Amino acid sequence: MTLTPQFLDELRARTTLSTLIGKTVKVQRAGREFKACCPFHQEKTPSFTINDEKGFYHCFGCGAHGDAIRWMTDQRGLPFIDAVKELAQNAGMDVPAPDPKAAERAERASGLHEVMEAAAHWFEEQLGGLDGSQAREYLKKRGISDATRRAFGFGFSPDSKSKLKIALRDFGNAALIEAGLLIQPEEEGREPYGRFRGRLMIPIRDQRGRVIAFGGRILGAGEPKYLNSPDTPLFDKGRTLYNLDRASPAARKADRVLVVEGYMDVIALAQAGIEECVAPLGTALTEMQIERLWRMSDLPILCFDGDNAGQKAGIRAAERALPHLEPGRSLRFITLPQGQDPDDLVKSGGKAAMEALLAAPEGLADRLWRHEQAAEPLDTPEARAGLRRRLNEHAKAVKDPDVRDQYYNEFRNRFDDAYNQRRDFAPRAGQFPQKSGGFKKDRNGKWMPPDRPVSGSARAIQSEGIGPVLGKEILAGFLRYPAALAQCSDTLSVLAIGDPALDGLRGFLVDIAFRSQPLERDALGPILAEAGYGALASVLLKANRMRFSFSRDSDETGTALRDLKMAVEAIASRLELDAAISEATEQLSIMSDDGCFDEQVRLVAARNEANMRLAALTGGDDDAVA
Ligand code: UTP
Ligand code: MN
Repeated sequence: MTLTPQFLDELRARTTLSTLIGKTVKVQRAGREFKACCPFHQEKTPSFTINDEKGFYHCFGCGAHGDAIRWMTDQRGLPFIDAVKELAQNAGMDVPAPDPKAAERAERASGLHEVMEAAAHWFEEQLGGLDGSQAREYLKKRGISDATRRAFGFGFSPDSKSKLKIALRDFGNAALIEAGLLIQPEEEGREPYGRFRGRLMIPIRDQRGRVIAFGGRILGAGEPKYLNSPDTPLFDKGRTLYNLDRASPAARKADRVLVVEGYMDVIALAQAGIEECVAPLGTALTEMQIERLWRMSDLPILCFDGDNAGQKAGIRAAERALPHLEPGRSLRFITLPQGQDPDDLVKSGGKAAMEALLAAPEGLADRLWRHEQAAEPLDTPEARAGLRRRLNEHAKAVKDPDVRDQYYNEFRNRFDDAYNQRRDFAPRAGQFPQKSGGFKKDRNGKWMPPDRPVSGSARAIQSEGIGPVLGKEILAGFLRYPAALAQCSDTLSVLAIGDPALDGLRGFLVDIAFRSQPLERDALGPILAEAGYGALASVLLKANRMRFSFSRDSDETGTALRDLKMAVEAIASRLELDAAISEATEQLSIMSDDGCFDEQVRLVAARNEANMRLAALTGGDDDAVA
């Protein structure tokens, strides 16, 4: 008998609960519900309520609670299946005929569990025995402790076509083939033989901890590196995540779940003390797997390699998740340093190296924006329109209307900020050279080289700048409070915004800071107008959506001035830290030692601190500082 959830829902929907319960106890209407004296405990005044709309009864006295089926089993004492039959008859529904195939499948599956359990046990024995010395050596070389080896049930499958078949012969070849342990050659009359030969065996367990498949790793070089069980009645690759059984309770405790790419990553992280990790089994994350993850955490963190394949896998997962986003339910991403997987990372830097990355994951919208923006050059109107369309397609894919709206808005705002600037305010060529990469202007207006060499990626971060959203706020601040320029101009001179028009105005403000005495706001207007910045300045002064005390109209000059200085400092240190973090990460991939990792952790913490300082200035509105 297979009763689908759909059938049971239909059954509940067709049953009027108050009528059903009314057959046994006296019910009275009370507003939109019904009341009765509770049949599950003794009482004189009714505290038992029935809600037909929701299909539930509830007793406020004794806590009895349930639906129509529950009523039949708990109050009438019927077995579940009889309860369903009787309700179906009342509702005029046919109970689905027993499905012999399904019953047989269930039966066979339960038999296969025993086969898999026995195989896992046998593999473990082999790892401990004579045949297993090479595999034990391999585990040692990879730094897998005995405790980890036991916890994850590592085993070894000897390089033989028949040893397993003989050891498990009591189950019969048919079962061993169905379990994916033996391969039956196509040609008639040929003997089945062992699938896994000479491999380190990693059992794959279901949510309940039962072995449903194996991953077998070759000990040396060779192809394929991993051999997985085929899909069987127990094992559906696309629905399973490696380590679900151990990760679920850990995820509840840690309040997060990580997705990594490989078995060994999961195991190495667990050994390093991060147990809330799962991995897909050599395929892209499926929607079913993402749904599974959401049952563990609202914001699973996907940890992918920095290489091309890893980044592609991340984007694919993001796209699969989009249709199913809900308020508060999304994905987060971290990108590992080039050429390192989590296994490598914790091996060289310990848990702290991983936690440093996990401290600042990227959101789903950020991830998609970054991907689409980098997908192709955006130097023509057509290319920018293409970007716009791709972003809209992503937003459109979201089914939840509230989340979808937010995605449309988010992408539109970002796009407008980045590309829909008016360009006609741009400074004349050469007037204010763009600076980046740590170059600073000295008091005489001469460009000075940076104090220390700046790496490629650090330079990229600095030249990307702080972005137009923050840039506009800061410029509006200096337009309102030019008196702050005297103190801040050094810092302002290195705060590239990454937008020609805004950076032009920024350069001009830095310049005039040295030109005259402390500036008055009123005196600034004509100076700006003369230099061709009048229109841009007035746009900035009138802009809405400004969130700092200094970028809005305010009477509190003292507060605004103080906030402006603090914001500029926080942004500058954040920029510097971003560059330093990227440099440290690059350094790590060349030379990993504890010192480097400690440094990276310290930098990430400092950057988060700078972010918080900035957010505090907006009254805690993080969006303003993103
Ligand atoms: P990786 O090659 O990144 O695995 O493949 P890894 O875990 O880092 O392996 P080690 O550290 O070299 O032992 C990631 C995942 O892709 C699947 C496996 O699930 C693996 O864990 N895979 C990889 C296969 O299924 N078959 C392969 O041949 C290779
Ligand atoms: Mn690896």
